[in-house]
Amino acid sequence: MKLTRRTVVTTALLSPLILRGARAADDLRARIKVNTENTRGEIDRKLYGNFVEHLGRCIDGGVFQEGSPLSNAAGYRQDVLEAVRGLDVSLLRWPGGNFSSNYHWMDGIGSRDERPPRLEMAWGTVESNRFGTHEFLDYAEQLKTEPYICANLGTGTWTEAQQWVEYCNSALDTAITRARRKNGRKDPWKVTYWGLGNEMDGPWQMGHRSAEDYGKFALEAAKLMRWTDPNVKLIAAGSSNYAAGVDWSLWNRTVVEHLQNYIDYLAIHLYVGNPNDDFGEFLASSRLMDDKIETTAKVIDGALAGRTDGKKVYIAFDEYNVWYRARGEGQRGRRILEEHYTLEDALVVATFLSSLVNHADVVKIANMAQLVNVIAPIFTNDEGLFLQTIYYPLQLFARNVRGKSLKLDVDVPAYNTKQWHDVPYLDVSGAIDGSDLVLNVVNRHKEQAIDASIALEDKSFAGAVGVNEVNGPDVKAANDFGKTLVRAQSRATNARGKTLQYRFPAHSFTQLKARLS
Ligand code: AHR
Repeated sequence: MKLTRRTVVTTALLSPLILRGARAADDLRARIKVNTENTRGEIDRKLYGNFVEHLGRCIDGGVFQEGSPLSNAAGYRQDVLEAVRGLDVSLLRWPGGNFSSNYHWMDGIGSRDERPPRLEMAWGTVESNRFGTHEFLDYAEQLKTEPYICANLGTGTWTEAQQWVEYCNSALDTAITRARRKNGRKDPWKVTYWGLGNEMDGPWQMGHRSAEDYGKFALEAAKLMRWTDPNVKLIAAGSSNYAAGVDWSLWNRTVVEHLQNYIDYLAIHLYVGNPNDDFGEFLASSRLMDDKIETTAKVIDGALAGRTDGKKVYIAFDEYNVWYRARGEGQRGRRILEEHYTLEDALVVATFLSSLVNHADVVKIANMAQLVNVIAPIFTNDEGLFLQTIYYPLQLFARNVRGKSLKLDVDVPAYNTKQWHDVPYLDVSGAIDGSDLVLNVVNRHKEQAIDASIALEDKSFAGAVGVNEVNGPDVKAANDFGKTLVRAQSRATNARGKTLQYRFPAHSFTQLKARLS
C-alpha cells in the first residue's frame, strides 16, 4: 500500500471526492470537521436489516433446529435467538435469495408432518417445508422485527404472489384467509414489505427474464398485490449481475420505467472478496458500493424525470457482504456458503455500513446477507454458537447510528490501489440524534495508527466520549468456538471544548459516541 497524497472528502451524496490539492503526504494526520446542521436526512432504521434463506444451515440448523436441546418446543434455537436479538435486526428478509424463485408458499403451511418435501434446485437439496410462512412470521414477532417477504417471480404465478399477500394481510373472509385461520392464525400479520422476485437479471436465477419481460411480468404481480392490500410496500429486483459486458444500469432503468407506479424500492446487491490477498484493495471495496448506490440513484432519478407528483423510489440494498471463499460451483448441499470471517472482513463490513449511512437519503433498506451460518455474523454447531468478526460492526451500527446522517469534512491522507485512486486511509461516517453524536471510523492502514483532530463547528463536547473499537491481533484474526480474538472493546476518552484528539489504531474500526451541548 503506497501513500500518495492527502485527500479532502466531503461525505456528501453523489459528489465525487473533492481533492483540495493533491499534495504528497508527509505524515499520517487527519482532520474531521463536524457541523451538526450539515445533514443529508434521516437514517432509516431499516438499514440494519438482515436476511434468512432456505440455504445450507441458515434456517435448518441455524434459526430452526427441531429436536435440538438448544431449541424450544416449536423448534427455534434459543441461543441463536438471543444472539440475533443482540443485533437489533430492524427488517428480516425471507425466504430467499435464489431459493425464492422456485418456492411455492402453499407447500409451507398446514400441519408440518404433512407438508411436501420438494426438490430444491437453487442450492441442490431437498426442502422439507417444515419452516414456512407461520414459522417465519412467528420468528419475526419474537424478534420484534419487521418481516420482508420475497415473492416467487421466477417459476411462480401472479395469483400465487397475490394470494400470499391475501393469506398474510387480509381480514376478509375468503377461502385463503379461512386456511390461515384453520392453520392457527386468526388475525392477519400485516406484512408491509414484499419483494417482486430476486436477482431476476441473473442467468443463474430460476425464471430469469430480460428486463422488459421482468418489468411486464412484475407489473401484473404488483397490481394484484397492491389491490389485495394497498398498504404494501413493493421492492423490485434491481441489478445484481455485474459480469463484464453486462449493462446493469440499463436493467435498473428499464425496471423502474415499467414499475414506477407500483414500487417503493429498487433492490441492488453486492458481494466482495479478497482473492489476491491485497489488504489495501480489499479495504477500498466500499468504493464499489458507493458507485452502485450513486449510479443507481441517478438512474432512478432519470427514470422518474418528468413526473410532477414527487414520486420516490428508494434503494433497498437487500444483500451485501464479504463472500468469496465458500463460493462457486461446489457450493451445493448442506454445509455451504460457510464463510469464516476475519478482522479484515469486519473492517470491510464497517465501511459498507458507513457507505449506507453516507447515502441515507437514497438508501432506505439494507439487509446483510445472511443471518446464521451462511455468510453470516452468527455461526452454530449442535452444541452452541460463536459470534463472527462481522457481528460487531453490524451490532454497533444497529444500536448506535441513528438520527440524521452527517455530511462531514474530512482531510486525510490517501493511497492508490490497482483499481482505485485516492482512497482515504480513514473511512468516516457520522450521525446526529438530538444531542448525541456518533462517528464511525475505519483506519484502512494495515500498519500505522492515524492521529486525528475532530473539531465541532457549532457545538461542544459535554463530557467524556465513549469509544468502541473492533480490532484484533492481526488482519487475518478470526473467531471460533471458544475463541474470541476479534470483538468490540469499550472505553472512554476525554474531549476538550470543541476538539477531540484521537489516535485511530492500525486496521481498526472505531465508533465514537459523544453527548454535545
Ligand atoms: O445470499 C446468497 C445468494 O446470493 C442469494 O441466494 C442470491 O440472491 C445471491 O446471489
